[in-house]
Amino acid sequence: MKAVEVIGGYPLNGELKVQGSKNGILPVLAAVVLQKGVCVLHNCPDIQDVRETLFILQDLGAVCQFRKGTITIDTENIRNIHIPEHKTSRMRSSILFLGAILGRFKEVSMGKAGGCDIGSRPIDMHLNGFSKMGAFVEENDEAIQAKGRLEGTDIILRVPSVGATENIMLGAAMAKGVTVIYNAAKEPEIVELALFLKQMGAQIYGEGSSTIIIAGVKELHGTEYTIMPDRIVAGTYLLAAAATRGKVRVHQVNQEHLGAVKVVLRQMGAVIEEAADSIYVNGEAAEKSLNYLKTEIYPGFPTDLQSPLLSVLSIAKGESHIYESIFENRYRTVAELRKMGANIRCYEKMVVVHGVDSLYGCEVEGHELRGFAALVIAALTAEGRTKICNKCFAERGYENIVRDFLKLGGKII
Ligand code: EPZ
Repeated sequence: MKAVEVIGGYPLNGELKVQGSKNGILPVLAAVVLQKGVCVLHNCPDIQDVRETLFILQDLGAVCQFRKGTITIDTENIRNIHIPEHKTSRMRSSILFLGAILGRFKEVSMGKAGGCDIGSRPIDMHLNGFSKMGAFVEENDEAIQAKGRLEGTDIILRVPSVGATENIMLGAAMAKGVTVIYNAAKEPEIVELALFLKQMGAQIYGEGSSTIIIAGVKELHGTEYTIMPDRIVAGTYLLAAAATRGKVRVHQVNQEHLGAVKVVLRQMGAVIEEAADSIYVNGEAAEKSLNYLKTEIYPGFPTDLQSPLLSVLSIAKGESHIYESIFENRYRTVAELRKMGANIRCYEKMVVVHGVDSLYGCEVEGHELRGFAALVIAALTAEGRTKICNKCFAERGYENIVRDFLKLGGKII
């Protein structure tokens, strides 16, 4: 199993450009199935989940090319409407092909989606949405089948699920009539998908708010699109700069998408300067604890940065209280941080972090994507050498976490 090794104690300094958004491009790659032409996507991150998704598209019959950050996809010859379980189980976003294939072909069968082990990850809202739109949906332990011409209707989501909102948008784009999604997710990735679908000819209104209206159209066409920057990768590097008391500028960011992250960094004592499309953080004084922080849906503090934040708070002065409100099992990294000397106690969805003077290098294990990134941040601050196993998790969402931290002066291989 591949590992990353870090010698900690060196403040990060320097600048780097943030990759394109993983959670922005994945629904867009499913959306291309809805049309029979060619799509060209720029600023695509070269990450495992993107490559796995291109393999799925190729198995469906699309012709895909990925060169220097640009992906070209020709879906003219897509005929296959089945995705095997060994392909869908590798990531959560494969579930989005359900709405895309059903929307274009009126029939789909696929294996169960996989994804990070951060909770049960049910898909009831996805399937209920398509049932409500008139599809016949069957689910068993291994697979999902759905069939029927989707018809627009009102859908109220139990919780503002990002994936369910995206999937229903994909199915509704060419449904008969109008679909209204109430209690929709408001994340930037929803807006990204809506902008892409509208460039393909879809009629969508209200994206970014909790009510999204999709008026089904007869046909969609190919387009060219540039993927937005990855707000979670940008936040990871800003938090790493704060943890190591360094000075870092991240380029190619969307200021609005990082609003909550900047507020939290300032609360911890970091100095933040904003330029047109970059953020500079001086983390020399970023040692304050956070009395209370709850992860929230957008525009609140993102759940995907909860574990990286715990690494920063592990060496803050004082006691911090963090409440994870989105997923029910997103504290698996706590046990690994404790191995490094962190003083963290879990109480169901709440953790109490009592800052210590320093963490100590040792061998730890990543259990999922953002938890692995959190352990790299902890290792960069720790005394001595840390070995972090299961590097495969990082490769799912970070183009090259070793290259990026090396560029910022981190001692990492
Ligand atoms: C997306 O996951 C992201 N993944 C996650 O990022 C992110 O943490 C999450 O949204 C929240 O922002 C991708 O975009 C590929 P949800 P998703 O549906 O869509 C429950 C990362 O690290 N739920 O908004 O799966 C669910 O269990 C990943 O990049 C149901 O109960 O998240 C969770 O508790 C990790 N039934 C809550 O809703 C459903 O049908 C929010 O999940 C669907 C979801």
